[in-house]
Amino acid sequence: MNESASYLQSCCNLKPEVAIVLGSGLGGLVDEILIEKEIPYHEIPNFPVSTVQGHKGTLIFGKLNGVNVLVMSGRFHYYEGYDMQTLTFPIQVMSRMGIKKLILSNAAGGLNPSFDIADIMVITDHINLMGNNPLLGPNDDTIGPRFPDMSEAYSRRMVKLAQKVGEEQNIKLQHGVYVGVTGPCYETPAEYHAFHILGADAVGMSTVPETIMARYLGMEVFALSVITDLGVLGQIEKASHEEVLNAAAKAEPKMICLVKELLPQL
Ligand code: HPA
Repeated sequence: MNESASYLQSCCNLKPEVAIVLGSGLGGLVDEILIEKEIPYHEIPNFPVSTVQGHKGTLIFGKLNGVNVLVMSGRFHYYEGYDMQTLTFPIQVMSRMGIKKLILSNAAGGLNPSFDIADIMVITDHINLMGNNPLLGPNDDTIGPRFPDMSEAYSRRMVKLAQKVGEEQNIKLQHGVYVGVTGPCYETPAEYHAFHILGADAVGMSTVPETIMARYLGMEVFALSVITDLGVLGQIEKASHEEVLNAAAKAEPKMICLVKELLPQL
């Protein structure tokens, strides 16, 4: 991890303040960045390499709306077969580089009956149903606590700022709890229903491991879901990756505007 962080710091003089992980629905943010340096994952020592179609794999140093950012274009998912430590390795590297703020984005199935396709949900909390945790195993107390606090996994300060930006920019924002599952299957109607009863508003296959690692390392986390399909009884249709990508593309301009306007205020 030290080797990866030093390599990256030697690649570019820009000192990123905020890290952004682009999920489905935020890929187009790349076009808004004043890029200083783009590095393919495979050139970074010890970095994993991404496999899913529609997710590329580069780390971008640049400026977005005047803010120095480090952007992960292409993320790692548990369902691809990475272990939890590997898929959260980039978060550890970001923290080692001195980055203290993290923005995550993802595509998710909506469970709350008041949600529509292409809505944006600000994640206010999560439920980890992945049956795993990136912090299992021996702990290095010099890096983070054995039993990390998760009472404010998602920064309330950042949620409030996003709400203000949403109002200013006329972007409707939903708020809610994200439940993280392994995938790769989408849910059965009974599973969607069960997750909603459990207290979740959206379900997806990412974000939870990265948030856990980031909080362990003391980073402040802000996360957004694009609602790409509805797991609401009576509204469930056959889910496909293509449909998810289409709905994510529809929400993309709103997502980009929100993140761009939010950044200088973070
Ligand atoms: N379930 C899980 N993950 C998802 C979904 C879903 O319905 N939509 C997009 N990612």
